[in-house]
Amino acid sequence: MRSDANIAGPMTDPVPGPRTESTGADVSRETPPPMDDTPIGRAAQLAVEALGRAGEGLPRPERTRVIVVANQKGGVGKTTTTVNLAASLALHGSRVLVIDLDPQGNASTALGIDHHAEVPSIYDVLVESRPLAEVVQPVPDVEGLFCAPATIDLAGAEIELVSLVARESRLQRAIQAYEQPLDYILIDCPPSLGLLTVNAMVAGQEVLIPIQCEYYALEGLGQLLRNVDLVRGHLNPTLHVSTILLTMYDGRTRLASQVADEVRAHFGDEVLRTSIPRSVRISEAPSYGQTVLTYDPGSSGALSYFEAAREIALRGVGVSYDASQAHLGVRQNDPSMVEGVK
Ligand SMILES: Nc1ncnc2c1ncn2[C@@H]1O[C@H](COP(=O)(O)OP(=O)(O)OP(=O)(O)O)[C@@H](O)[C@H]1O
Ligand SMILES: [Mg+2]
Repeated sequence: MRSDANIAGPMTDPVPGPRTESTGADVSRETPPPMDDTPIGRAAQLAVEALGRAGEGLPRPERTRVIVVANQKGGVGKTTTTVNLAASLALHGSRVLVIDLDPQGNASTALGIDHHAEVPSIYDVLVESRPLAEVVQPVPDVEGLFCAPATIDLAGAEIELVSLVARESRLQRAIQAYEQPLDYILIDCPPSLGLLTVNAMVAGQEVLIPIQCEYYALEGLGQLLRNVDLVRGHLNPTLHVSTILLTMYDGRTRLASQVADEVRAHFGDEVLRTSIPRSVRISEAPSYGQTVLTYDPGSSGALSYFEAAREIALRGVGVSYDASQAHLGVRQNDPSMVEGVK
């Protein structure tokens, strides 16, 4: 875990400048100092207030929702989506566990969780049958958010799992034996459809597919959907694609809106009304060991991930999402949502 020494200093300025939106700057001036006395704790509080939801939580599901964030295409926003949705849900009152199932350990890094080779990790859970509770760490400064980190050991797990008993359902068993109450488990998958992703799909009920609004966005999706069908047919009858999220949406380009239209035509209701804009703040946050929700709470990236989380939370309790209720004018397919474009 990150040490206190790392929390001090300019690296963790809760509201780094220059800010892209006047809303964020206003918030930082107007919001009275909250009780939290760490910079990130303050930033977390600011995030909630910037979103206009201070003290008002999102609805919590009746039982734990296990959401698998998967797409075998690399770099489409799986990790970014996992950590920012998880932080949004936790900042609004839910208890959330992120399981980092990618040997790259990007989700662990983004959440400020130490994941050098000696740290107890999800590898130990999958391969050594270690209880999940022994590897889960609280995420610094975001109450209710936890992470099971991935270390580089996990790179060998695809092969080591092959010869183990119940190789596809080891994560499912570990989750079932985990006794802490949780509202959500979000699993960040690697960019492949190997045994790690299959373990996630056996453990989950829902698949969330982030789709980057680029030319080749839909290529390979057929294979992903076939894998979901296979797992549903043979290993996990509850599994379904519940959510498609458009990421890195650049409203200035016709291509982005064409891809978005195509995805909506193909998937219909599974596609969230909120799409995530391409945002410098989103891409900067991980290098500070933070989510964009704490790094720059008033940014368009933070607001859009919060809206996406709200949609997901409302769907989970059967309430339909009303886009006109979106906060601070988060609108769909709006070019002004792209930072730098006014
Ligand atoms: N909305 C966004 N705006 C700008 N940059 C983004 C956005 N979403 C993600 N990125 C950046 O794009 C890159 C890829 O994102 P990310 O790591 O989340 O993808 P991934 O699907 O998890 O990748 P991998 O397949 O390697 O695991 C990262 O550098 C990330 O910071
Ligand atoms: Mg990733």
